[in-house]
Order: sequence, then structure tokens, then C-alpha cells
Amino acid sequence: MANLVILFMLWLSMTCTICNVKLMAYGSTRRVSTRFYDFKVQTKRVTKLCNSNDIVTVNGMLPGPAIYAQEDDRIIVKVTNKTPFNVTIHWHGVRQRLSCWYDGPSYITQCPIQAGQSFTYNFSMVKQKGTFFWHAHVSWLRGTVYGAMIVYPKTRVPYPFKSPYQENIIILGEYWLQDLQQIEHATLASGGAPPKADAYTINGHPGPNYNCSINDIYQIDVIPGKTYLLRLINAGLNTENFFSIAKHKLTIIEADAEYTKPFTTDTVMLGPGQTLNVLVSANQSVGKYSMAVAPYKSGKIVNYQNISAIASFNYMGAAPDSLYVAAKLPKLDDKLAVKTVMDGLRSLNQVNVFKEIDKNLFITIGLNVQKCHSKTPKQNCQAMNGVLAASMNNISFIHPNISILEAYYKKIKGSYTEDFPDAPPKFYDFVNGAPNKIPYDTQALNGTRTKVLEYGSRVQLILQNTGTVNTENHPIHIHGYSFYVIGYGTGNYNPQTAQFNLVDPPYMNTIGVPVGGWAAIRFVADNPGVWYMHCHIEIHQSWGLGMVFIVNNGKGANESLPPPPSDLPQC
Ligand code: C2O
Repeated sequence: MANLVILFMLWLSMTCTICNVKLMAYGSTRRVSTRFYDFKVQTKRVTKLCNSNDIVTVNGMLPGPAIYAQEDDRIIVKVTNKTPFNVTIHWHGVRQRLSCWYDGPSYITQCPIQAGQSFTYNFSMVKQKGTFFWHAHVSWLRGTVYGAMIVYPKTRVPYPFKSPYQENIIILGEYWLQDLQQIEHATLASGGAPPKADAYTINGHPGPNYNCSINDIYQIDVIPGKTYLLRLINAGLNTENFFSIAKHKLTIIEADAEYTKPFTTDTVMLGPGQTLNVLVSANQSVGKYSMAVAPYKSGKIVNYQNISAIASFNYMGAAPDSLYVAAKLPKLDDKLAVKTVMDGLRSLNQVNVFKEIDKNLFITIGLNVQKCHSKTPKQNCQAMNGVLAASMNNISFIHPNISILEAYYKKIKGSYTEDFPDAPPKFYDFVNGAPNKIPYDTQALNGTRTKVLEYGSRVQLILQNTGTVNTENHPIHIHGYSFYVIGYGTGNYNPQTAQFNLVDPPYMNTIGVPVGGWAAIRFVADNPGVWYMHCHIEIHQSWGLGMVFIVNNGKGANESLPPPPSDLPQC
């Protein structure tokens, strides 16, 4: 009998061991991987548009290397700066849950990586998947320092649409023959607007409309009858762009790395910082179709390149010498085409946005003209006898010379203040208010002002475009969060008439606030750290169109920012 009991116990422990093995094996299919990348930031001589130039690149590539991962994976990127310039990399759209130190905006979350130094970014794609991109976040370096980040669903988790035959990354960019840091300096010194880009590009290629670019063209070879997933990214500096493919429809199924209800359209518009996934069926007769990029000219201040970038949607079997079927693009200022797509963006699933608000901020966004203080106004005050600036609530954001996150964490005083206002200094007809009528109308103050949010607070922002200089569509991007776009419209925001969608609004990280209009967004401030909010049009950011949220720690380790990494760059 005793023997039997011992045998039984032995059997039990054996099955238990097997049990454990099985459990472990099951667990391993869900285990997250770590993806390592090595980024060498280096200058590289490239020949484009009949010229040879030195540009700053990652690993000598334009666009830079794509990063691939799966949801919940850890991504580790060692960035080594082999240039004489200051460098940082930002992972656009990655929410950096409890990892604000690795977010990347210079002087906001870190000091730049100086010449010859390196910094290893280390973060997890917590509950995030879709199309992201990375870009430099210091001076105007991101004009050439950018690349895609593709995060697939977990193993065996399908897309919520029929699997495409093939996926392609399509990055819209701008190309400049002059050094970008020089352009930035010269523009700011002039007080006026920046020069236009020399070309638009698709995956670094301008296409046949530009000088010396007949063969500098990106091409997708497609099989008739198949469906293609295009991951569209606007990495351009200063231009919002329309994108369309001749005779082909685009079905949007994801915006800013969140699934949307399928929505079919002829054209999409992406502001800098926006990403869209679209499905395209190769359902036309065999031939060569152009994929075209042209500007959406919502404002009058920035100069636009008018030549379209063209890539080729090339059916297998098309005669090599066949002509491109031209794409139809909306007219340059077609607001309706933009609105149509915006109206079509709905979260795939019902989300039910919270209704109670703890913090309600009204933030005006737009350009300003500052008084000329220069002794050489002809050189330095080229905008309406003044200097162009941009602001939120009439504060032009000034980058400090140490990282705000470090100053906050180490309680170093003096580099920023906590008095970013909850509303503009005065309410008036923001969209039509005539310049100079009211002093607040055109002038802004300089400051490094932040807004402190308590952990877990439910935040609503009303972003209101002003027309003091001119109205314009502003792609406003928030670091560390995605937010529900619950409403938008033209004119001045009116709480009595504004319509909100709290049921299935899109969950985005960059919202194109309509030209001369407003947008309402909501998020829960549950990610502690220092988070930049700014216009993703680079010149607007340089002019001060930004501010910073500080989100305090909550309770315990799961709601608190860990200490800084040991290799965090020093200023
Ligand atoms: Cu895509 Cu602050 O950046």
C-alpha cells in the first residue's frame, strides 16, 4: 500500500512537471522579443536633382533603416553620433509608457547626443502596433534623418481586414539642396518665411517631374487582382501633402497606428507627423499608374514647391515604355477633400470616451508678428515690418538649455516655469480678428512654460486656430499619449453648438486642426513624465508653436517614472 502511495505521488509530480513544461511552452508563444538596432548618424554625399550634397543620415540611408517589431516587444537602438552636430532620435507615436527618458525631443526629455557620443534608447511597444516612424528631434535634422517603424500584431493575431498580398512603406519627404541647419538659422534671422523645398520625395525619390530625376523614382511592382497595404508616413518638414494613385481607390484602415473603420476615398491628406494605412486593389488594366504627392496649401505664409513627386504603381506585364497614367490631385487649397477624409476616420471599435473632465484647457494656436527690435530691419524683420513667430495661448515656446525632464526629476530650478495658461489672455473673434486691433491679437510672449497635470486626470483640450497672421491647418502632435479626436469644425469653437463623438472617435497622436477652425481632444494623463505638444510643421515649431505637459507620478512603481538611464547624454 505504502508503495502504491509513493508511486502515485511520483506520478503526480511527473505529470506536474509535464504540466509546467506545457505551460511554459504555451507561454513562450506569447513571450515578447527584444529587437536590437544600431544607428550610426553620419553625413553622406548624395547626388540628387543634378547636385551633390552632404546630408545627415542614419547608416548612410535615405530614408533611414526601417525598424520591425511586434506588439509588446522591446526595442533597443544604440545611436552613435558620428557627425559634428547635436543629435537625438524621437520614436513618433510610441507612447513611451514609463520610459519618458527615451522619448527623444532635445531639451525636453534629454540633452542632445553630442559629436562622437552615443545613447541607447530602450523602450517597449506596450499595447501598440501599426505604422510609426522615427526622426531626429533637434534643429531641422529630421529633414533627412527619418525612417519607418512597423509594429506587427502578436503572433497569430490577424489584421481586422483581409490580409493584403504585400505591404509597402511609403514615406513622403522634402528634399533641400541647401544645408538644413543653415536654412533654419537664415530663416529665423530673416524674421520671414523659409524657402520652399527643392523637391518632394517618396521614399527619398523625387520622381520624373524633377530635373535629373527620370530614373530617381520609387516603384512598386503589382500583380493584377492582388491587394496591397501601403503604410503612408509624412516625414516632411513644412508641407502638408495630398497623396493619390491614378485610377485607384484608397481604403483607409488605420490612422496614427490605430485601426479605423474601413473608409474608401480617392485622395488622402497627411500633415507632417501623420501616418495612414491604406489598402489598394490592383484592379485596373495592366499599365503604369502614378502615385503622386502634392502640397495642401492651407496657409499663405510658407512657400510651396509646386512640382509633384511621382512614384510608380507598376503592373507586372506593363510595357517598359508605357506612359504613366496621371493621378488626379485636389486643388492646392481643397479644404473639402481634407474634411471628407477626416469625417471618415472612426475607431474600428466602439470606445466610449469618458464624459467627466478634470482639466479643460482652451489653447489658441497660430502665427504672430512680433515687433522689430533689430537695427537692420531690412535684414531681420522681413515679415510685415516685424518678425514671424508662432504661439499657443500667446506664449512662444523657447527651448531651455538643459532637459526639462532632468530639471523636473532632479528638482533643478530656473529652466522652466509651471504657468502655462489654461486659456488665451483674451477671447475675441480668433479666426477673423484683425491684426493690431487688439494687442493680444498679434503679439506673443516668450517663455518655457509648462502645464502640470496630476496623474490620472481626465484632460480635454480645445485647440483653436487663430487668423491673426493667417489661418492654416496645424498638425498638432502630443508626445507620450494618443488622444481621442472627439470633435472639430471651422470658425470659432462654440461649446453650445459643437458636436462631439464620444462613441467611436479616432485615437490619434497628431491632429490636423482645420484651417480657421478648432479641434477637441481628450486623454487620460496616466503616463508620468515631461511631454512636448507642438505643431509638426517644423518652421512653426521653430517659431514657438509648442508647450510642455508635466504629468506627475501616481502611486507606486506602476505609476511612477523610473530613474534616468546611466548613459543619458549631458548638455
Ligand atoms: Cu514627430 Cu515632437 O515629433
